[in-house]
Amino acid sequence: APNPIIAPSILSADFAELGRACSRTMEQGADWLHVDIMDGHFVPNITFGAPVVAKIRKHVDQPTQSYGRGTFDCHMMIAEPKKWVKEFKAAGCDLYCFHYEAAFSSAAESPEQKTDEKTNPKALIRYIHDQGLLAGIAIKPDTPVDVLWEILENPDEKERPDMVLVMTVHPGFGGQKFMASELPKVQELRKRYPELNIEVDGGLGVGTIDQAAEAGANVIVAGSAVFGAKDPSEVISLLRKSVED
Ligand code: DX5
Ligand code: ZN
Repeated sequence: APNPIIAPSILSADFAELGRACSRTMEQGADWLHVDIMDGHFVPNITFGAPVVAKIRKHVDQPTQSYGRGTFDCHMMIAEPKKWVKEFKAAGCDLYCFHYEAAFSSAAESPEQKTDEKTNPKALIRYIHDQGLLAGIAIKPDTPVDVLWEILENPDEKERPDMVLVMTVHPGFGGQKFMASELPKVQELRKRYPELNIEVDGGLGVGTIDQAAEAGANVIVAGSAVFGAKDPSEVISLLRKSVED
């Protein structure tokens, strides 16, 4: 399996000192920053948009290589993922992870649009790659993993995702209870794709990491477990150790 990557979710940071919170998390051993973008429409909560991402980017050096330290892993919980790709690229996002459900739910205005980026995850992945970003695809707990096979088996690598995110809570809020019911999706993905970056997000912490790591996840998001800890460095290294073993 690929290297462990620990990606603290800054959703649980103090937004009044977000820049400092980001650089501190990096100093505490984070690999990536997980940046939760919510539009109050795809999910029942609002966070922030590209202008804030551009400001916090100045507090964390941009990675010198793909998947490197300081990667901004933007989790786009938004209804119109195509619309914001360029803005987020300009703001310093490195990995643009959209929701499968949103790639289909944005209604096509004309029959031709049914096959374009607005409604087709493969074309959206190509578009994200064309903008110079890594592309991730996320699925909510109610979405079966089977919808991904066709996308992952695409012979055209421009249209294949660089990462799959399996949500282990219903997206929208930090601090929710981990849903172990989602782990068979991770297992199935890992069985078929030994080298794929598989991210889990929601309810991860020292008490739940072993199950997720065992299932095959290697990119670990943790919000409240890291930002709520007395010693965040210790939590980050425990999460990493569990994936390594
Ligand atoms: C939830 C977000 C998560 C959230 C995780 O919709 O996508 O990234 O910050 O928070 P915890 O780790 O507290 O469950
Ligand atoms: Zn997230």
